[in-house]
Amino acid sequence: MRILVTGGAGYVGGFTARWLQKAGHEITVLDDLSSGHRAAVEFGTLVVGDVGDAQTVRKLLADCRAEAVIHFAASVQVGESVEQPSLYWRNNVANTLTLLEGMIEAGIRRFVFSSSAATYGPSDSETLREDAPTDPQSPYGATKLTIERIAHDFARAYGLGFAALRYFNACGASPDGAHGEDHSPESHLIPRLLRASLEGGEKFRLFGDDWSTADGSCVRDYVHVDDLAAAHQATLLACRDGQGRVYNVGTGRGHSVLEVIRSVERVTGSPVPCETAPRREGDVARLVACPDRLRQELAWEPAWRDLDSMVETAWAWHQRHPDGYGD
Ligand code: UFG
Repeated sequence: MRILVTGGAGYVGGFTARWLQKAGHEITVLDDLSSGHRAAVEFGTLVVGDVGDAQTVRKLLADCRAEAVIHFAASVQVGESVEQPSLYWRNNVANTLTLLEGMIEAGIRRFVFSSSAATYGPSDSETLREDAPTDPQSPYGATKLTIERIAHDFARAYGLGFAALRYFNACGASPDGAHGEDHSPESHLIPRLLRASLEGGEKFRLFGDDWSTADGSCVRDYVHVDDLAAAHQATLLACRDGQGRVYNVGTGRGHSVLEVIRSVERVTGSPVPCETAPRREGDVARLVACPDRLRQELAWEPAWRDLDSMVETAWAWHQRHPDGYGD
């Protein structure tokens, strides 16, 4: 299939683009490189441009004769979205609308996009199914839920066939150490812990130790980025015109921040200097997926289940690339 991948120079986007290319698809990446990396686009064509620019989108969809679009390009930090909601509504919602309009005009109906576990509200359930109540606690989560709604409306009115993937916490790097996570600034837990464990590294700040969880720190479902890439492939092939489906992508196992700290200490062999800080706005106590829908409907299974193994891949990348992609 000829596939346009927006945000394909980013973390999950880059892994998915490489995964699909290896599976024989023809990939064109559209990325403005505001947070992505040229070196993350190993195969295919990279077009540097803005998903919010209708002319760029229209021309590119025609030039690459796309049959499907996988849409990653977005602003992705929960904390930042609380401080700068305008940026999030524009980059995530307005730009996606521009992209979808371009697709419909060009007759392209197949669409997979990055939604998020941040669409769910606080819940007492151990794991969240896709029909659990949504109640985003941050502008970031609200923008993702709004995009899901737009996609449903486009499915009904214009025949769009889509899958919305609600990622839980993407983590890890390629086992060969060639590709990994490189955000600037880095806000994510595992890379921050790895940096803190290095000599002279900045002390790790634990955002709240008084959450209603077993050890008082937040619980998340860490899913390896290669498993996320595989989920995109499975759902893309299953898209049917006029139908939309939401899928959780997680392992179904939760780990608290304190457990992740211990895992990082085991993997690196160094203690993580740590201090407790106030809760971060927009966080929730627990987010763990029930991934049964993806399992049962599309036979997706996470290949990575063990937290230490996932952290090991991140650590290998971090050691080989202390400055990330170096750009
Ligand atoms: N945390 C800290 N200190 C840090 C960084 C993180 O204590 O320096 C904690 C957070 O408070 C949270 C956990 O570690 O409890 C994980 O935080 P991340 O920032 O790594 O990830 P989030 O859970 O906030 O968000 C990620 C993605 C979102 C996605 C969400 C779904 O960034 O895009 O997972 O769970 F929506």
